This record gives sequence, C-alpha cells and structure tokens, in this order.
Amino acid sequence: MQKHQLKTPYFMINEDKLIENLEKAKLLKDISGAKLVLALKCFSTWGVFDIIKPYLDGTTSSGPYEVKLGHETFGGETHAYSVGYSEDDVREVADICDKMIFNSQSQLAAYRHIVEGKASLGLRLNPGVSYAGQDLANPARKFSRLGVQVDHIDASVIDSIDGVMFHMNCENKDVDAFVALLDAISSQFGAYLDRLDWVSLGGGVFFTWPGYDIEKLGTALKAFAEKHAVQVYLEPGEAIITKTTDLVVTVVDIVENQIKTAIVDSATEAHRLDTLIYNEPASVLEASEQGTHQYVIGSCSCLAGDQFCVANFDQPLEIGQKLHILDSAGYTMVKLNWFNGLKMPSVYCERSNGDIQKLNEFGYQDFKRSLSQWSVE
Ligand SMILES: Cc1ncc(COP(=O)(O)O)c(C=O)c1O
Repeated sequence: MQKHQLKTPYFMINEDKLIENLEKAKLLKDISGAKLVLALKCFSTWGVFDIIKPYLDGTTSSGPYEVKLGHETFGGETHAYSVGYSEDDVREVADICDKMIFNSQSQLAAYRHIVEGKASLGLRLNPGVSYAGQDLANPARKFSRLGVQVDHIDASVIDSIDGVMFHMNCENKDVDAFVALLDAISSQFGAYLDRLDWVSLGGGVFFTWPGYDIEKLGTALKAFAEKHAVQVYLEPGEAIITKTTDLVVTVVDIVENQIKTAIVDSATEAHRLDTLIYNEPASVLEASEQGTHQYVIGSCSCLAGDQFCVANFDQPLEIGQKLHILDSAGYTMVKLNWFNGLKMPSVYCERSNGDIQKLNEFGYQDFKRSLSQWSVE
C-alpha cells in the first residue's frame, strides 16, 4: 500500500515514533521499579498493541468495555476503574480484572463482596492537590467527584483493601512539580499507604516530553515505593502515544470572508474532539511560522466555530492538497463520532520497515448501524 494512494481522512500511526516513547517508558520502569499500565481511555487502537505489549505491564480502564478490551487484546495486568459502576458492570468485570478500583467508599461497600477472592481491591483517593492546565481536566477542582477526600476516609476501610489510586496530573511536563505532589501525598496519606500493597499514581505525567528528566522522576518514584513499601503503578495514556500519529486530511474548498479558510474533509467535532473541548489549536506539518499565506484550517462540519487552527504557509494552499494534523493519537480515535454523517477516518500504521498496514476502515453501513438497527413496524 502506497501512502499517496490512501483516501483521506485517515490516521497514520508511526511505529518508530511509538517505539521511541516506549523506550522512555522502559527506562522509567528500570529506574523506578514502577509498573506502567496503558490508560485505554486515551488510546485503545488495539491493532498496534503488539508493538506496545513488550514494554508495558497491562492496561487500565474507565468503563466496563475497556476492561474487556484490555483483557482480550493486551493481557498482562488488567486494572478496572470507573467513576460509577452498576452492579451488572461489577459482575461482568470482576472475573477478568486483576485490580478493581472503586471511586467511593459507598461503591466499595456495596460491591466488595462480588470482587473479593477474584481481584485485588482498591479505592481512589483525591489528594486535593493537582497539576492541570484547565479546570475541566482538574481532578482536584472544586466539588470534585473523583475519589475520596482525605477527611472523608474511614480509616478501617484502608485495612480492608489492597491499594489506592490517585490521579491528579494532566500533561505535567515539570518533574519538580510532580515530585512536590508526590511529597504532598506521602505526608498527607503516608500512614495509610504504609498499610497497603500497591499505590497507583494515575496518568498525566509527561515523561516522554523532550528534555524531561526521567532519571529524577524514576528516582523519586523508587524512593516513594521504598518509603511506603508498596508497588507503584503509573497509568500513562498521552505520554505513550504523543507525537506518534497524524490525522491526514484533504483541502476540499477555500473560501474567503476577510480571512481565507481552507475547508478540509474532517472535523474537530467528529474526529479530533479535544481541539474543540479544550480550545487547543492543532498543529499542521506543512505550516511555516514565517509563511505569509495565512489560513484558518476549517472543518467540514456544520458547527460555525469548528476549526483546527489558524496557520501560515509558504505557498498558497490548493484544493486537493493533503495536510497532516500532527499529534492526533490521544483522545481522538477513542472519541470518534458520526456527527453530520461525515466519513470516518480510516486508521493505518506505518511499520518500521516502511510497510503501511490498514487497522480500520468504516463505511456507510457502520454509520447507519450506529443509529438504528431495527425500525418500528
Ligand atoms: C484515572 C486516570 N488514569 C490515567 C489517565 C491517563 O491520563 P493521561 O492520558 O494524561 O496520561 C487518566 C486521564 O484522564 C485518568 O483519569
């Protein structure tokens, strides 16, 4: 399969870039002794799990189907966490997970009898401190429902579980800021942690960012694990797949209303939702800061404000030209939707030997099936 023959829109995952991140994950594991489980909420494209499996210890999840997917397609340790489980969910998941982490003491009390003897029991705690650029993604935001606050912990509950999970970072590229959070957890919850077997410190630690001091992070995690005699886990999502994947689109029209807009055959609302939710403009491979030709890269959805970014180019854009929207793996393929009946991007992997492998492709029947399977008589 030749790249230039592929029909846009499509995602292209690059194996070499993925391995670059995974080698950093391996280094972190070697230094720290921590185990790393992939956060499926961020990236669940199981067609490339064979590349990831040798480097990580398993998966963690946010809903019952992710648990099943992790168990079926990744193996290793399967961590099950959800902000709110129904009893049916717990029964479905208990047999296939290794650790079951409840979000509240009430869920733990209601369902522990289903899990006991099957999986290790855990509880999410909320440290009340965090590192997150946006309030929407801040687990320690005011009135947060995520995990148990320190002053709500029933001390006797700690003796009846095996571990706890904290998640308080979002794209944290500052190792010192992370170590400060680790220290805060150690002093605030230390007496509890000493009584447990494992502690998960969640995701959001951007240890694959260029220049990140992995050694410092690893050393701090090792010291934490030794101090409290626990197995430490991290739950990376974005750090594993950052900068590995382009969303490739084609310019289908160029319109002008004071500024030029290149309309492409994709939409943030359907194919790159976080661009819209977090108002974080995408980057385009072909753009150039010095370029004098400026365009809004606009989507083909009906939403007036749906755009990928504003970018400058050295040459005027042309209809039919392909553009590569960079860094499009995390929280994209897991959030694809059929809004406007747009064509869903295919998914490919560019292997280290140059081969292009198709992982997924969608058609009209998938769209139709997602809306109804049966009609009223
Ligand atoms: C509990 C938990 N673990 C792990 C992650 C993964 O975070 P990231 O993709 O930023 O590493 C998240 C993200 O929201 C999370 O809520």
